[in-house]
Order: sequence, then C-alpha cells, then structure tokens
Amino acid sequence: MLKILISVSELIKTYITGRTNEKGFDMCGIFGCIMENGKAAPVIHASMKRLEYRGYDSVGIATVSNGKLTVKKDQGKIDDVHKIVNLDDLPGSIGIGHTRWATHGAPLKVNAHPHVDCNGETAVVHNGIIENYAELRSELENRNHTFVSKTDTEVVPHLIEEAFKKNPTWTLTEAFVDAVKKLEGSYALAVISAKEPDKIVCARNESPLVIGVCEKATYCASDLTAFLPMTNKAVMINDGELVILTPGHYEIRRIQDGSEVIRKPEIIDWTPEMAVKQGYPHFMLKEIHEQPETLRNTLRAQGHYLDLLSTFLDRASEVFLVACGTSYHACLAGSYMFSKLAFLPTYPVYASEFVEQHGKSVNIDSTILAVSQSGETADTLGAVMCSQQRAATILGLTNTVGSTLTRVSRVYIGQQSGPEIGVAATKTFTSQLSVMAQLALKLSTKRGKCSQDEMDTLAEKLELLPETVEAIILTQEEKVKQLAKKYRDAKIFFFLGRGINTATAYEGRLKLMEIAYVPAIAFPAGESKHGPISLIEPGFPVVFICPKDGATHKTLIGNIMEMKARGASIISIIEEDDEEIKALSDDYVEVPKGIPEVLSPIPFVIPLQMLAYHIASLRGLDVDQPRNLAKSVTVE
Ligand code: F6R
Repeated sequence: MLKILISVSELIKTYITGRTNEKGFDMCGIFGCIMENGKAAPVIHASMKRLEYRGYDSVGIATVSNGKLTVKKDQGKIDDVHKIVNLDDLPGSIGIGHTRWATHGAPLKVNAHPHVDCNGETAVVHNGIIENYAELRSELENRNHTFVSKTDTEVVPHLIEEAFKKNPTWTLTEAFVDAVKKLEGSYALAVISAKEPDKIVCARNESPLVIGVCEKATYCASDLTAFLPMTNKAVMINDGELVILTPGHYEIRRIQDGSEVIRKPEIIDWTPEMAVKQGYPHFMLKEIHEQPETLRNTLRAQGHYLDLLSTFLDRASEVFLVACGTSYHACLAGSYMFSKLAFLPTYPVYASEFVEQHGKSVNIDSTILAVSQSGETADTLGAVMCSQQRAATILGLTNTVGSTLTRVSRVYIGQQSGPEIGVAATKTFTSQLSVMAQLALKLSTKRGKCSQDEMDTLAEKLELLPETVEAIILTQEEKVKQLAKKYRDAKIFFFLGRGINTATAYEGRLKLMEIAYVPAIAFPAGESKHGPISLIEPGFPVVFICPKDGATHKTLIGNIMEMKARGASIISIIEEDDEEIKALSDDYVEVPKGIPEVLSPIPFVIPLQMLAYHIASLRGLDVDQPRNLAKSVTVE
C-alpha cells in the first residue's frame, strides 16, 4: 500500500499514467542526398532500407522543391510506412532521410524525424543525444517557438530559425553553425532548408558521419552502406567538423573557427554485405567493437529515469531482478552493486524459475526489475505478468522501446545500445551493467550509504569505462586471437571468478558455449573445491577473472594455486601491473589499472567476448546465428 502513498509528485504521476519515459532520444541512421537532377526521394528511400539495421521503429524523408519543404514520416518499418505514404513520391533533387531506433519515448509519428522549425522551412535529421536539450527547449519556448515532439532533436531546427530571426542576412551554414555551437552531446546532423535549396549542411560530434561523392551527386550518411551502390568514394568526417554538400562537391570546415579542411575521398572496396557489417566479418565482432560508443550512449542523460527507478527501489520491501541468459548475468552483477553500494539486498532470479519459486509469495510490496534486451522474452514477460497480477511494482530495463516490457512497466529505462544483430548478446550486456551501476550509485546517494568521495571516484571511473574498454579492444585483441589459436581445440573450459565476477565467469562460459559450441563450466571460484575441481587434469584450461581492487584478489590467488597444482592451464584476465597473478598464469590478458571491483565486470568481460568470438570464428562456425538459438526467445 505504501507505494500508492508516495509523496514524490513525479512518482504519483508515474503511477497514474503508467508511463513516464517520454523523451525521444534516438540511435538511428541518417542520410542526405543532393543531385544535379532527378528525384532524390526514391534514392533516399532505397538508402534508408540499407540503414534499416540501425533502427526500424519509424522513418521519414524531407525534400525541397520550388522553394517548398515537404515531409513524409510515420512510425513503423520502412516497407510498412512506404505502403501507406509512398516515400518515393516527394518532389525535388535534394532531401534528407532518417530511420529511427527510439531509446526513450514511444516510437510515434510525432517523434519520427525529420523535425522542422515553426515555419516548416528547415528540416533536420539527427543521430545521437543532445544532452542540454531541455534547457534549450525551454529558452526557445520562452521565445514563442512551438514544439510538437518529445525529441531532443527538435531544438535544432528551432535554433536555426532563431538564428535567422536574429540575423536575417545569414546563410544556412552560418545559422547552422550558430545552432550547433549551442549543442552539448553527440550528433550527426543533416539539414535542408527552403531558404537555401541548393545545399545540405551536416555536422558531426561523436556520432558517425560519412560523405559519398559522385560526379553529379553527393550523399551524407551514418555509414557508407547507405550509398555504396551509388559510389565507392567516401570521405570520413571527424568530430567538430561540418560539411556543405552541393551536387558532386563537398566542403569541410571546422565548426569552431570556420577554417577549411582539405580531405580527399578514399576508395572503398567493400561489398554491400561487408558494408552492412562495416567491414567486420560478423555482426558480433562489430558489436564487440561498438562497446566504447554504446557505453558512452548509455552513460548519457539518464538522470531523470535513474532517479525515478531508484526511488521505487528505495521504497520496495523486496526487490527481484528477473531476466534470462545474459540479461540474468547482468542482474546477478547488479545484485552485488546494489548490495555493496546502496546496502540494498536484491534477489536475482532466472525468469523461467520465477513463477515456480516466487509466484505465490510475490505481492503488492514486491518490486520486480525485469531486464530484457528485446523486451519480448516470454519467460521474462511470464514472470512480469504473474507479479503484475499480484499487484507488484514492475520496473523495466530494456534496449527496445515500444516492446511489451516497456508497455507493462510502471517505469522503464532504455539502455541505448542500438540494435544488436548477432544472436549472442555483447554490447547490450555491458550497457545493462552500466545502467545497473548508475542505478546503484543513485540509490546509494539517496540512502546516504557511501561517502561523497567514494561516490565521486566511482562516478568518475564509470565515466572513464568507455575509454578503458576501447583500450582493451585496441591493445588486447591480438593477444586474445593468439589464445584462441592455442585453445581452439580444447574440449572443455572452466571459468572462475569471485564476488561480482562470478557473473562475469558465467557470461564468459555462456558466450563460449553458445557460439563456439565448447562445453564450459563456471562457478564462484570458492566453490570449485567443493566438487568441480575433480575434473581438472593436466592441460585443462581454466579462465580466472582477477580484478586487483577489493577483497577477492587474495583468495583468488589461492584458487589459482589449487588449480595449478593439479596441472590446469591458467588463463587469467588481470590488471596491467598484476605481477603476482602474471607469474602464476600460463597466459594472461591485461586490462588497464585502477578499475574498482564493483565496476570490473564491464571491462573484464570484453576479453571473454573476444575469446569466444575468435574460437568460434577459427572453428568456422556461424557466429551470428548459432544453431538452435534465436535472438529473442518468445516461447516459454
Ligand atoms: C546470450 C543471449 C541470451 C539472452 C536471453 C534473454 O548471448 O543473448 O541468453 O540474453 O535470451 O534475452 P533478452 O535480454 O532479450 O530478454
């Protein structure tokens, strides 16, 4: 009953509406096309299809012709929207398009891009997250701008309009630069305007942008997959640069000082299939490599939702963390985070077991945090429905806004990882872990459980994790490949970790089993002597996850010795300066120094993902679609 009486106004609103998460952050594909002649819309439509893997919950195109801007957009997949609105039927040889993957907010027509200014003259498509959009929006509303969507993007056309209002003689480029300089966050933006119908202007900060050049046409896109059938000449755009596109030409300038940048096109010799995977042989490897970027996105601008979720958790009498597979491992790690940082006991439960185990006892005072990348996993939804019928509070963490989980959750948080195509979860796992860490930190602050210094240090370390992960991928992948060669024919693997890295060990095992078909076992390292150690014989590969921080390091050394004494081959994941464990290991992979134990699953799982990937790939297996598995398991 207590929850109904919660006095925090936002929580009451949440309770009444059943929804809170209305903001429209996106991770998506953008495209722009300017041609000497011919119709741009069909070209944009076809290119959006090639970008659909970046997002597919809504789509839109804007073109300019005869001094008039026309926009067509709607929610739904491109083919479905096309059937209704005919995306090819827009006039003009200049236009921009967008395919959206909503990470917050409903995937509705009103939130679909392109977004326009009050006069319907300027249209913008955007991939990224504008962090200061709320301040900008309220300033613009005070200046009588009318907003129609819940997106962060919509501030951009209004900022351009405002710049024109103040400086009527400005060019589109000048007004765009003025707008972009006010933005904080990540963006790849493309803009067209009826005021200047002979160019597209685009800009980049921390979201991908690439230009394609032909003799009589120029394109901008989130990646070159979009224009590869038209041209293989591509120019990569860097952060802080803007580009002015005219048919067959491009001009790059630095946003800060307007100085020109000379960069010649590169010839790309990828096949379309390679291009979709951005040159990677498999989606899984691409997604492993995307983790610095996805983690950056996950760490952005979640404050309000984290606050709401943590308030619910704070007031709960009992908290269950419910999920399947990899998402369950995120819950297991999350339970250590909540306990260590916020002194909140939580119960991670396999969703498929939840109804049997807790179906009778769950009640109005229980809170369920359901974690599901797809938001559609039948077992997870089964646990959620059972709890909902018994009046428990349902909270969600998912990568798929608009999924069933988001519809049944009282509050949900979007993990902002973008679509994951490989069946094996990689980038969505580390994003889930980082949301759990953010939640635990919020909750800790709320409950006053840790010192401010400790909180500040952890928050700083969390912010640095994208770089840490980047460094691991850059410096350790070769080593992991060598390891994969050495152990590719191993018949069985053992994964051991202690504390929070029990979850990392379980995840390392799952990755290896599901894509490389190598039987593997995982235990909390302390458990191995209670039975599993009898398996060990000379040469048996045992992977240890060994963060240096925290109390587990010392005891892990003991566990390594136990295994070593029985002839196991020790493969350790260690911090750079961990000479003690290095000396005990047959092989090791290093991660940067100074990672707090409570955050360590995020960097420490990266070598395990790479190990599973490279073993599977050396074995010539179908890495992205392992046998017997589906990306989303919608049967119980
Ligand atoms: C493993 C994997 C699966 C999923 C599980 C839950 O790599 O992807 O174990 O984690 O099927 O899926 P979601 O998170 O969509 O509920």
